[in-house]
Amino acid sequence: MRLIFDTHAHYDDEAFDSDREALLRTLPEKGICNVVNVGAELKGCYDSVTLAEEHSYIYAAVGIHPGCIQGLPDDYLQQVESLLSHPKVVAVGEIGLDYHFDDNAPKEVQKEVFAAQLQLAKDHDLPVIIHDREAHGDTMELLRKYKPKGIVHCFSGSVEMAREVVSLGMYVGLGGAVTFKNARHPVEVAASVPLTSLVVETDAPYMSPVPFRGKRCDSTMISYTAEKIAQVRSAQGTPITAAEVLEAARENAGSLFGITPEVL
Ligand code: NI
Repeated sequence: MRLIFDTHAHYDDEAFDSDREALLRTLPEKGICNVVNVGAELKGCYDSVTLAEEHSYIYAAVGIHPGCIQGLPDDYLQQVESLLSHPKVVAVGEIGLDYHFDDNAPKEVQKEVFAAQLQLAKDHDLPVIIHDREAHGDTMELLRKYKPKGIVHCFSGSVEMAREVVSLGMYVGLGGAVTFKNARHPVEVAASVPLTSLVVETDAPYMSPVPFRGKRCDSTMISYTAEKIAQVRSAQGTPITAAEVLEAARENAGSLFGITPEVL
């Protein structure tokens, strides 16, 4: 039984250049049922679609990451839109706001590009995959306004913010960060978010869970993330196994993206 649905990976990343095909060929036999490969730059959007065409279990999300706005061509939105009708494109992402790096585009420009892509997703009735780094207030403001369906990926907000995300009908995406020693918010959220609103992800090649922190991440490592989620939930008095966490997350992801998970 293939339990792991990775809702967020970047297998187009150059970190996989040396062994991409060999790795992707073996993921299904290692328990991965599906992967959504998420675009960040325009090139990554096209590459995500290509990977989805080449592997039946891979689907694609296309969108411009807030860290990749500078140097975008004027017709970027049309280019993203042109990919949305592809049968294996299941979401617009990753899109959002990133106030962590000083050399990212100015906040107002980020918000404009984010809003344009939220509207695009709405127009095409597609879910979104949201990147929010140190931009919780502005992210929530736009989510309240556009009310998309989708995932707040690599969730780093508070329990209160998670509650609002859930009340908007969105999913909370948890990955390697829940296993980090200094993680407080992700752990609190992992312990308390309703099981019906949870998805699991990697952000591969980044965000490897402990004990692989700092190494290249791939979707198989989600089992460590699920183990930690099961642990903190069980410690709160709701006994659950990692397999049950993965199963719930898999069903949630399938229903969000309109995919029947490839469990066998
Ligand atoms: Ni990502």
